[in-house]
This record gives sequence, C-alpha cells and structure tokens, in this order.
Amino acid sequence: MNGTATALAHANIAFSKYWGKRAYVGNYPAVPSLSLTLDAMTTRTRVTFDGSLDGDRLTLGGAAQSGRPLERVSALLDRVRAAAGVRAAADVVSHNDFPTAGGLASSASGFAALALAAARAAGLDWSVERVSDLARRSSASAARSLYGGFVELDAGPEQPTDAPLAARTLVPATDLDWRLLVVAIGDAKKDVSSSDGMIRTAEGSPYYAAWLEVAPRLHAEVRAALLARDFERFGAAAEKSALAMHASAFAAGVVYWQAATLEVLAAVRALRARGTAAFATMDAGPHVKVLVRPEDAAVATAWLRAVPGVGRVLEARGADGARLVDAEGGAVA
Ligand code: PMV
Repeated sequence: MNGTATALAHANIAFSKYWGKRAYVGNYPAVPSLSLTLDAMTTRTRVTFDGSLDGDRLTLGGAAQSGRPLERVSALLDRVRAAAGVRAAADVVSHNDFPTAGGLASSASGFAALALAAARAAGLDWSVERVSDLARRSSASAARSLYGGFVELDAGPEQPTDAPLAARTLVPATDLDWRLLVVAIGDAKKDVSSSDGMIRTAEGSPYYAAWLEVAPRLHAEVRAALLARDFERFGAAAEKSALAMHASAFAAGVVYWQAATLEVLAAVRALRARGTAAFATMDAGPHVKVLVRPEDAAVATAWLRAVPGVGRVLEARGADGARLVDAEGGAVA
C-alpha cells in the first residue's frame, strides 16, 4: 500500500497545566488541563506508507532523525498500522514554522499533525475524537491540538483502563479574542523533556502529592472563569497553575527557568501594578507566555521586549484545530 496524507496542526499553550501521568500504561494524564490552540506556531507533516521501505523514516526541518524522536514516531505509526492492517513502513516529513529546539511546545503540534496524517494515509476514516486519543498516547498535550480555541482534556480514570480519552473544545477561537504573547528566552535545547520532567517530579518531589491535590481545583477555577468570560479571574488562576506546577518540579531538581524567566515574571507583575491585566504561564522550558486582552497587546509587547535577556516576542491568537491539507497546503474537503 502507498497511502499518503499531509496534515497541519498548531501548538497550544495550557492555562491549567497537565503535569504528571497515571501510574498505569497508556499515557493518561493524572490531572485535567485546559489550553488555547495558537495560530502563531504550526507544524505540517506528510506521512507516506511505502511498501518498499525497510523501516520508518523521519525528517524534521530537513534533517533525518534517529533514536528517541524516530522511536516515538514509530510507536504512533505502529498503533495506526495495527488498526488499519497495514504492514508498510512510513516516510514522515515534518516542518515547524518555529524553533523546535527551544522548548516551544513542539510535541503538541507535532504529534497532532502526525496522528491525523498517519490515520488518513493508512485509509482510516477516524473521527477527530479517535485521532485525538491516538495523539494523546504519544503526547497528552497533542490531544488538545486536534481541536481549536479553548480546549479541555480530562484526567485519565483512577483505575487502569485502555478506554479512549480525547480532548474537546469548550470555547471556539472565533468566540473569544484573548491574546498570548510568547516571550522567547535563550535558544538552548531544553535538557529535560516534559515526559522525563514529569516522571522525575512524581518520583522525587515532596510536593508532587500537593500538586495532584491542587491541580484539579485550579483547573475548575480556570474553566469556570473561561465560561464566565472573566479575563482577570482566568489569568490569575492560570498563573497559579503554572507556578504550582513549576514549584512541584523545582523540588525534584527539575528547573526549567533561566534568570530572564524571573525578569519577565517581575515585568508581568509590574504591568499589572500599572493597571494592565497581564498574566504569565510557563511550560517545560525557560520561555514565558503572557495572556493579555487584544487592546493591551501592543503596550505589553513593547514592555516585555525591553526586559534584558528577552529575544523575540510573538503575538498569538486562538486558532482552529488540526486539518488535512493537500500537498500545496490547500484545504482538503
Ligand atoms: O504533552 P507533553 O508530554 O509534551 O507535556 C506537556 C506538558 C506542559 O506543556 C508543561 C503542560 C501542558 O499541559 O501542555
């Protein structure tokens, strides 16, 4: 068989953080999460099943990959092959329009685009829920990038299961225009992947139990504030979720921040003190993402650019979920 398909997916940033996995197999998150799918960061991935290949091949940004990145891609392809009864290896070619190495949420858009392209290339006419579940098994945050706007992913059940767990849209991108300023700090490759960071936190942090207890409450607060369209309540709860996640990681020696991360956090607090509603969130890297209303985006961007150690500041808006595209990038009906 020689099926091929190309998919495009955007990164997402969580306001209520996923950090920690259920102890049983299947990559089920231990806590619920809520994110916004962003227009600014996009992955495009083409998957071609080709009976003449000896093994799966992965090219990322023009460079052939081996080792762990290729293994993670093959694990997803194996699930697709098993479901579709396909035996052929696949050629996977993927491009990000943002730097992969800097810890800027590449696994979410990457596995979302891969899951959609692989399922279609194998001839599976799956619902978005099934593709989201497939992506989640590789990277839980990727389950959210199948959907647009503000997206929620539940925690996995407490008892071991193999049941599907997909994300869902709570508020479409077109309904609410809240902006996220992506403040890039440094360009070093992150040394601890999010998966390893979570495992180290679970095994070594005296505060992991506290995180598991507080995360669902902060999630409920973020969710309720979103549904009430209460920007300040949403931002305040989101900042708490990020700080609690990082505090639990810190205590296990998992420190993603750099000096400029703290400088930006101070600048965000200073913005608030001046009367501009702005709230910070951080993932498994040094970068800070700052939530602002659209009318404050320009002032906040100028303010953050002036912070020592800050590189690019990218303004992102809500975007739609993943979609199939033709080879030239046009939409497929
Ligand atoms: O999906 P993963 O394994 O890349 O983990 C993502 C973890 C965070 O980005 C830190 C939080 C989140 O909910 O996206």
